[in-house]
Amino acid sequence: MLSILVLFVVCISEINCISQDLTDYFPRCSIDDSNLNNCLLNAFNTVRPYVKKGVEEIGILPFEPLVLPTFNLSQENLAANYTFTAWNFTIRGLDNYSVKEINYNPETLIFSTKMEFDALPLYSKYEISGRVLHIPLEGKGFVSATLLGPIYATIRIEGDLVEVDGVKYYNTTTIKVTESIKDLEVTAEGLFEGDKELGRVTNHLLNLFSVEIMQAITPALEQLAEERFMRFMKSFTGSVPYYKIFPKLNN
Ligand SMILES: *[C@@H]1O[C@H](CO)[C@@H](O)[C@H](O)[C@H]1NC(C)=O
Ligand SMILES: *[C@@H]1O[C@H](CO)[C@@H](O)[C@H](O)[C@H]1NC(C)=O
Ligand SMILES: *[C@@H]1O[C@H](CO)[C@@H](O)[C@H](O)[C@H]1NC(C)=O
Ligand SMILES: *[C@@H]1O[C@H](CO)[C@@H](O)[C@H](O)[C@H]1NC(C)=O
Ligand SMILES: *[C@@H]1O[C@H](CO)[C@@H](O)[C@H](O)[C@H]1NC(C)=O
Repeated sequence: MLSILVLFVVCISEINCISQDLTDYFPRCSIDDSNLNNCLLNAFNTVRPYVKKGVEEIGILPFEPLVLPTFNLSQENLAANYTFTAWNFTIRGLDNYSVKEINYNPETLIFSTKMEFDALPLYSKYEISGRVLHIPLEGKGFVSATLLGPIYATIRIEGDLVEVDGVKYYNTTTIKVTESIKDLEVTAEGLFEGDKELGRVTNHLLNLFSVEIMQAITPALEQLAEERFMRFMKSFTGSVPYYKIFPKLNN
């Protein structure tokens, strides 16, 4: 699971996922370890400086900052009804995580973790059409924002073991991400074809109702994270055998 974190970084950065073994200075946790969860907790925290800077010899790029070339976000409900596209979405501070809880149960094959982050500044080229709360949003340009900390995220992964050519792999079936982000500060340029007054009023409203806006868009952000994680898990656990991720003690 340590390697999951490491490889997550590779894959979320949209680099081709790799399946090499990890270098020696990465701690490993044995499936038979009676303190498996402690081992994982230490491992996640130990590996932070490496993943932050990247580990060139095994092809891991730095994830500070993290850049997503493009993605779409859309919602259609009472609170929010919009389509949003981002290009070169850049977010900073993800390396500054602290693992609060971690739990892997080899019997149920369920993994869960709770992480804390500080404020996360981000910026992106964007296009938006629709509304959030009752604030109409039309525009295209550049947006910068800061998700205010402390931010908490929990990730829960469920799966089963499958056997391919006599080798066991973990097959992820469900991923649930829960994010707790209380507030944000945002500045969007290019709203309403650059109309200064509409742009000013809209930015004012976005910051005035930022807590409610954060609440309204959190489900979309959680879904985005779930899709990214699932893509990564399929690629990672589909190519690295289960007992390479969690070595047996006498092996
Ligand atoms: C986002 O949506 C646009 C138009 O709806 C589409 O052309 C584009 O392929 C989508 N991009 C992604 C990454 O899904
Ligand atoms: C969302 O916006 C579209 C386009 O303006 C509209 O047709 C639809 O009824 C809206 N849905 C909700 C739930 O407000
Ligand atoms: C995204 O960034 C890359 C590299 O800096 C650049 O070549 C590309 O044009 C950018 N894309 C957009 C849509 O701005
Ligand atoms: C990382 O966390 C430390 C301590 O919590 C904080 O002082 C620092 O500003 C944070 N850095 C970033 C980039 O968020
Ligand atoms: C993994 O599980 C999904 C269902 O959740 C299933 O469709 C798929 O075939 C499984 N993959 C393998 C390799 O068995």
